[in-house]
Formats: sequence, C-alpha cells, structure tokens
Amino acid sequence: MVTAESPQEEKPKEKAKKKKPKLLNKFDKTIKAEIDAAEKLRKKGKIEEAVRAFESLVQRYPQSPRSRYGKAQSEDDLAEKKRSNEMLLTAINTYREVAELPDPPADLVKTTLKRRAERQQFLGRMRGAQATLERLVQIFPEDISLKNDLGVGYLLMGDNKSAKKVFDEVLGMAPNDGFAKVHYGFILKSDNEIAESIPFLREGLQSGDPGTDDGRFYFHLGDALQRVGDNSAYDWYELGHQRGHFASVWQRSLYNVDGLKAQAWWTARDTTYTDLIKTLERNWKTIRDEALSVMDASRGLFVPEDENLREKGQWGQFTLWQQGKKVDKSCRSVPKTCALLERYPEATGCKRGQIKYSVMHPGTHVWPHTGPTNCRLRMHLGLVIPATGCKIRCTNQTRAWEEGKVLIFDDSFEHEVWQDATSYRLIFIVDVWHPELTQYQRQTLSPI
Ligand code: LMR
Ligand code: MN
Repeated sequence: MVTAESPQEEKPKEKAKKKKPKLLNKFDKTIKAEIDAAEKLRKKGKIEEAVRAFESLVQRYPQSPRSRYGKAQSEDDLAEKKRSNEMLLTAINTYREVAELPDPPADLVKTTLKRRAERQQFLGRMRGAQATLERLVQIFPEDISLKNDLGVGYLLMGDNKSAKKVFDEVLGMAPNDGFAKVHYGFILKSDNEIAESIPFLREGLQSGDPGTDDGRFYFHLGDALQRVGDNSAYDWYELGHQRGHFASVWQRSLYNVDGLKAQAWWTARDTTYTDLIKTLERNWKTIRDEALSVMDASRGLFVPEDENLREKGQWGQFTLWQQGKKVDKSCRSVPKTCALLERYPEATGCKRGQIKYSVMHPGTHVWPHTGPTNCRLRMHLGLVIPATGCKIRCTNQTRAWEEGKVLIFDDSFEHEVWQDATSYRLIFIVDVWHPELTQYQRQTLSPI
C-alpha cells in the first residue's frame, strides 16, 4: 500500500506524465491511414509534398479537423523553411479554421489555438495573439497554463495592468502556482511595491516550477531585498550566479558577451582609450562651462532620472548621445563638448551606452544597482565636485570624484551613489565599448 510516508510519495513535485492529446474525432479515425500518410511526409521534411497531400485531404474532407490541422502545420513548416511571413499568415489563418469546424476534439482545439497564438506573437501581432489566448481561456477555463500564457502575452505588450489581473486570477485558483507567483511578484516590483513583491518572487523561485528559473526574477528579488535592507539578497544573487544567470554575485547585467575581462574599477591604461581620457581631462573646464550655461539657461534639458534608482533626492541628466546616436538638439547647446567627442567612435559609436551630463543634488541616495550590459565601461569626468559628501561604491571599493579627473568603472557591477554635500555635484558621463569587443561586435550588437 502507498501511504503518505512511503518512498513513492517523496517527490511531490513530479507531475503525472502528460497524456497524449487526442487529435482525431470519430470521422477522422475513419480516414486515419490517409492522414498518417500525409503526416509521414511532413515528419520526413518533405514539406511541399506534405502541403499538397493535406490540401487534397482538405478538399475531399472539408469537415475533417485533423486534415485541416495537418494543412496548417505543413504551411507553418513551409513558412519556416522559406522564411515567409506571408505563408505564416496563411498558416495562422488555417489554425483558426481548425477550431471553427463542427466537431473538433477538445485537445485539437487547444493545440491548434496555442500554436496560433505563438505564431502570432512571433510575427509581433500581439493583439491578435491575445485575442486567441482569450478565446482559449474562455473555452478551457480550468487550464491554468493557458491563463499564464495570457498573462505573459499582456506583459509582452507592456500591459502590466491586465497581466496583473490574470496572474491574480491564477493565484486565486492555484495559490501555489510558481509561474504565476514570479510573474505577479515581478509586476508588483515594477509598480514599486517592493516589500509586497518579495514573497511572490521568493516563493515562485523556490517552487522550481518550469518557467521560473529566469535571471530577471533573481535580479528583482535581490534588488527588492536590498531595498528593504535584507542581506539574503546576496544568497539569491549567488544562486542566480550558480544557475548561470549572472557572471558573478557582483556582476549582474543580463545582456552580456561572454569572456570579456570583468573588473569593477579600471585605469586609463587598462582601457586603451588613453587619448580620449586625456582629451576629457585637458578640456574639462570647457566641458564644465558648457554644462553650466545650459543649467542656467534651460534647465529643461536636464531630465530627472526615471529608472527608479533613487531612494531619495534629485538627480538629473542631459544626454548628448544614446545608443550610438547623437542627439542633435542637445549638441547645439554644448557644441564644443560634442566637437571634442566626435573623434572617438569608442564613445560616440557605443550603441550600448550614453554620453551625458549628470547633476546630483544634496540629499540623494542611489540604490545599489547594476547596468544592463557588460559591453561598456563608464567614465565619469568630475566637473563640479563638493569638497566632501559625494561618493560612489562599485563592488566593495568606494571612491570620490575629483574635478578634471576621470574615474572609470564597469557599471555591470553593483554600484551605489551618495550625495550628502551642501551643494550640487556635476559630472560628465562617457560610456565606451568594452575594449575587448571586436569591430564586428561593435557594429552588430543590438543597441541598449
Ligand atoms: C551611475 O552611473 O549609476 C551614477 O553613478 C551616475 C551618477 O551621476 O553618479
Ligand atoms: Mn548606474
């Protein structure tokens, strides 16, 4: 007999093996041999022949859901082979037809509409995909994983409010669903409900459920814990590192190129960009004065930091280049500074960084945080630096800015900033490509 204590019961997480879906209705069973023959072509990769075979089946048996589904699948395969969006749209349409036939088996409806939604998402047709998923959820209201798919779809569209509602519903039906928990926690965290997000992210990760082992959840759980002063943040960073999401406990960027030299603080020589650094230091007063003129004349160019990195205080930025593109309007206000930079593609061409002024006012604290990528290094040229009260920590080393001097760090490592002086602090930030990136990588990496 199997009791609660017996060894067979020791793996409660192991789900029962999935039943094979039933894809044939009563009629389709009578033409199974023909369907199997067409399917065999498809499985063998004879895609054009499979399309023709299924088309002929659909012509002869227009009411056959399984034939229609085979047609959709072979069109889908053909779209993949030919990289044809038009063919994919045809397949997406055929997947819908399957579900609209008179007597399709429930499993087939589920399979065909799920695939339809996936392919719609692939084409960026997010609204269409959501409509398909909404329909699935309506037909199969008890199926939690469909609801989770629907929630993810809303997140992909940036509709966090609808996503939150869906995951909330899932948790009402299945309070232990780890997938819904991590996502619900993730949404709370991005709504700045820091303390509230923690149990959801933590329990979701602890569940080990499929789809929960994602770097972003470790990242945001750790961040939330740090903000409430809970040191177990580093246990989660360690686990995230062990599971391959972070290069190290300190270096937690998620868009990385493997194998780049990883060090928190850099010297000018380390970077090889000594010419740029000399230019910045020799011309620091010009760079400063242009910033000051802009601060006086049109404060509007300095926009408040908007990534929710501040615990408190005022911090504004004035951007000259971002993602390797010059902001012409900005450069017209600080022409000498921009002219100085034009000769340095390692900075102006850094598609994974920015060039900007940064002004921080007294009483500001920037939470410990980590930039998105290990592909850049960040230079800080001191312009107006109060005598005391301003400092920056990167990993376990804390430094202070000096006027006319460049500090260089890799902002994919955890860093934190304090401004406790009595007047503002102004620096010039220049991101540069990590020196070990090849020209080809610099040209082809996606912008951030
Ligand atoms: C950062 O790059 O995160 C900050 O150090 C910028 C700043 O203005 O101090
Ligand atoms: Mn930063």
